[in-house]
Amino acid sequence: MTTPKTVLFHLSDIHFGLEDRAALAWVERCIAEEKPAAICITGDLTMRARHREFAAACRWISSLGPPVTVEVGNHDMPYFNLIERFVDPYRRFRSIKALLEMQLNLPGVAIVPLKTATRAQWRFPWSNGWVTGAALRQTLAAIDALPSGTRALVTAHHPLTERDPRGKRLTINGEAAMAALAERNVLAILTGHVHDAFDIDQPTPAGKLRMIGAGTLSKRIRSTPPSFNQLTLTDAGIAVTVRNLEAVPTPAMQIGQVPENALPPRQPEDPVAPVRTVPAHDPPVH
Ligand SMILES: [Fe+2]
Ligand SMILES: [Fe+2]
Repeated sequence: MTTPKTVLFHLSDIHFGLEDRAALAWVERCIAEEKPAAICITGDLTMRARHREFAAACRWISSLGPPVTVEVGNHDMPYFNLIERFVDPYRRFRSIKALLEMQLNLPGVAIVPLKTATRAQWRFPWSNGWVTGAALRQTLAAIDALPSGTRALVTAHHPLTERDPRGKRLTINGEAAMAALAERNVLAILTGHVHDAFDIDQPTPAGKLRMIGAGTLSKRIRSTPPSFNQLTLTDAGIAVTVRNLEAVPTPAMQIGQVPENALPPRQPEDPVAPVRTVPAHDPPVH
């Protein structure tokens, strides 16, 4: 049986408090006119998890028509109130819970969350990702409970790349998580955090896992203008278009490897600076 075409908008790192208002107004128009089946926001909804930033995020999400999923990002836990950060780190994030879908089932595909942000870690910076055993078990159980033949799109804040080209540890337990996902019927993992888009086939012991990253809709840009991903799902897979106000073609918007964070690249010879490549996937849909 043929699955109908499904269009999703993958947004990330809006960082209310430092959001790009012109970019958000444009995204609102795109959503109103094109009516995607769902909107997936992969974390860093706020800049410093301030109450007023979450309130602005709530107002914005409430104004959108389609169902919305949001993952918690490292910026979405209290930054100034360390007691609250340790005791109840997700209290402010839960203020948007009533507006969200926790797990979303669309025709032939389910959107399943994976938590990668943690309140504290045994290393610095705490802003990097960590797939805890409990978080991975919860995601795998949700995937394994899907009806037979259902494909999963996993949504997380941090890319799962475990080490950068210099060997620096990025997401703890990322490699094991990618291998476990690659063993299952997972179309791709959608992430954010680095503020540039990418579309990478990551080899794992269990086969390739497609990692799709969305850029930012904030003023905190890394090397590309504000953008979001349009994902077109068909039986053949996913076609990704990186939409942006400057009409930069998708291949030029996508970086070739995952950097450590959203800081602008330091110098051209930097091994984690953008390497613009054309991903070997479906041609983008315009
Ligand atoms: Fe961010
Ligand atoms: Fe982040």
